[in-house]
Amino acid sequence: MTAQNIGDWRGRILRGDCLHLCDSLPEGAADLILFSPPYDSIRSYGGGWKTDLPRLGEELFRLAKNGGVCAVVIGDGTKNHAKTLTTFSLATDWCARAGWRLFECCIYHRDGNPGAWWSRRFRVDHEYVLFFVKGEKPARFDKSPLMVPSKHAGKIYSGTDRLTGGGLKKITPKAVNPKKCRGTVWRYAASNTEGNRLKLRHPATFPDKLAEDVILCFTAPGETVLDPMCGSGTTCVMAAKNGRQYAGMEISPEYCAIAEKRLREEAPELPLARAALG
Ligand SMILES: C[S@@+](CC[C@H](N)C(=O)[O-])C[C@H]1O[C@@H](n2cnc3c(N)ncnc32)[C@H](O)[C@@H]1O
Repeated sequence: MTAQNIGDWRGRILRGDCLHLCDSLPEGAADLILFSPPYDSIRSYGGGWKTDLPRLGEELFRLAKNGGVCAVVIGDGTKNHAKTLTTFSLATDWCARAGWRLFECCIYHRDGNPGAWWSRRFRVDHEYVLFFVKGEKPARFDKSPLMVPSKHAGKIYSGTDRLTGGGLKKITPKAVNPKKCRGTVWRYAASNTEGNRLKLRHPATFPDKLAEDVILCFTAPGETVLDPMCGSGTTCVMAAKNGRQYAGMEISPEYCAIAEKRLREEAPELPLARAALG
């Protein structure tokens, strides 16, 4: 598929292998890339597709604007009682070879399954969100939609701060603000509690709120969000609902259909996802 027959790629779910599709998009096309790749065969998506994640890192780097961010929701499987290190390998490879810089690595904490009592390992209830940036720093970083209530709002904060050299500095007493910045652990209920039956037809989605938080933090209205492995279309739906342009890519015709239906049903007042390209 070439750039010519992709035409206006915004507002669409593009069907095909993201590596081929990315190749056809212009350099600097995306303000934000947000996606979750299949990793460590934890889920089967029906097609047994394999993706060259190191090459995808290079392609996405080309597609990001300068100051653009790529957020990757990913985790590690366990094999023979050891973690696969998929997340850390991807992070080091993308930074060493593709040109990305790691802006932050957040923990996405979700409730997860209760786990089996006989299993000789911890119950895994997190994944990572790796935030890569192209260039020195994100072109946009708006924390205001991510503020959280302060536990001690209104109380007077006093005492001491620890200095770099180990000494203590007395703090001028001040009232604790009602809200504080979110930290690097992001908590969400698992997406199977969202009550979206259509979304549930996909086996491995991330929560709508996670996508919305990332989109609001790193983009302005009208900017472009790309999800190269969009599954049920979570990123595209949340981009459309928040007045951002979007493009989704998905290899499975079944999941393309789900993403398009979600866009029609959940963001109906916005331009409909056009027919997938075959
Ligand atoms: C973890 S799921 C993404 C789910 C999505 N974030 C959501 O909330 O619905 C990964 C998706 O990548 C798709 N996929 C796998 N290999 C692909 C490829 N080479 N190109 C495009 N999509 C691919 C799978 O079909 C699957 O739907």
